Amino acid sequence: MPRKKASLLLAVETSCDETSAAVLQEGKILSNVILSQDEIHSPYGGVVPELASRQHIKAIDFVVSESLEKSGAKLQELDLFAVTQGPGLIGSLLVGLTFTKGLAYYYQKPLIGVDHLQAHIEAAFVENPDVKYPVLALLVSGGHTSLYFLEAPLSYKLLGKTRDDAAGEGLDKVAKFLGLGYPGGPVIEKNAEGGDPQRFKFSLPRMKTSGYDFSFSGLKTAALKIIRENNLDARHPELRHFLASFEETVVRALLENVKKALMEFRPNSLVLCGGVARNKRLRSHFAELAAENKLPAFIPSPRLCTDNAGMVGALAWKKYQLQGQAVLDLELDAYPR
Ligand code: KG4
Ligand code: ZN
Repeated sequence: MPRKKASLLLAVETSCDETSAAVLQEGKILSNVILSQDEIHSPYGGVVPELASRQHIKAIDFVVSESLEKSGAKLQELDLFAVTQGPGLIGSLLVGLTFTKGLAYYYQKPLIGVDHLQAHIEAAFVENPDVKYPVLALLVSGGHTSLYFLEAPLSYKLLGKTRDDAAGEGLDKVAKFLGLGYPGGPVIEKNAEGGDPQRFKFSLPRMKTSGYDFSFSGLKTAALKIIRENNLDARHPELRHFLASFEETVVRALLENVKKALMEFRPNSLVLCGGVARNKRLRSHFAELAAENKLPAFIPSPRLCTDNAGMVGALAWKKYQLQGQAVLDLELDAYPR
């Protein structure tokens, strides 16, 4: 009898403050359970690494069980395991890695290590598997702001990254300063509704060297200065105009680099991904830019933008398909950067 083809995969993601597990069959997501720690970190205005890893330890068993139950698959039926190796918070990464390694070892099945940033890009292909390469991908998350060029599947060329704060980090810090809560991106988006994006003037950050690096710390400092000078707080009537202007400037700074790279690299498709890609202003300006250049824009649905194991599983499956085989490597290690 021919051996059954490997097809059922369990993926685990614990790189930051979401505990997530997904089951995929032939690369199709059957379940994608995400347990957020927002409430735990909210009083601190940012992720507290020690609390994050403790919470992953408490939640991982339950989250994996939920994802299996939702998919209808049994642990012993799984053919492959996948887990995020990094980058991320080392304590958090190790929880997912050791847990998944233990399962793979017990069931003697291959374990595929996945890069978190590459998984964010893969999220854009989950709903659009027929994307045309080369692809120019803008990744905007809480910890990273990077521009990638993919000549072909799994070939990642980093064109530029942030030299200081990530865009999401900038949003989170401004929200914290205003006492709006955590995570900053969604609360800023909500409070900016109906605001005039031209009311407050910010100059765009300029990089002194050519290339595609980003910088957001100057913009954050400028925002904090305006907040102080205008005595802005959570109840100030000008707040929505300020937040709309700040959001608009962050979006313009992000798209400036994409425009430049479009000229040089002439991609066939554009991808926007990462947690900040949930932002409506960014999504619509990105889609406009793509349309102006007659290019398709692939932006994951909001749930696939923020950290989730579905994207990790999708990338693991693609690696397995294209690279032929996977092994149980018990030396697989986590990397924070
Ligand atoms: O990708 P992600 O889930 O985690 C990291 O890998 O960092 O991204 C989290 C980031 C946070 O900074 C959060 O404020 C931001 O994504 N974010 C948003 C929105 N939803 C989440 N930023 C702007 N608008 C949103 N709607
Ligand atoms: Zn992420």
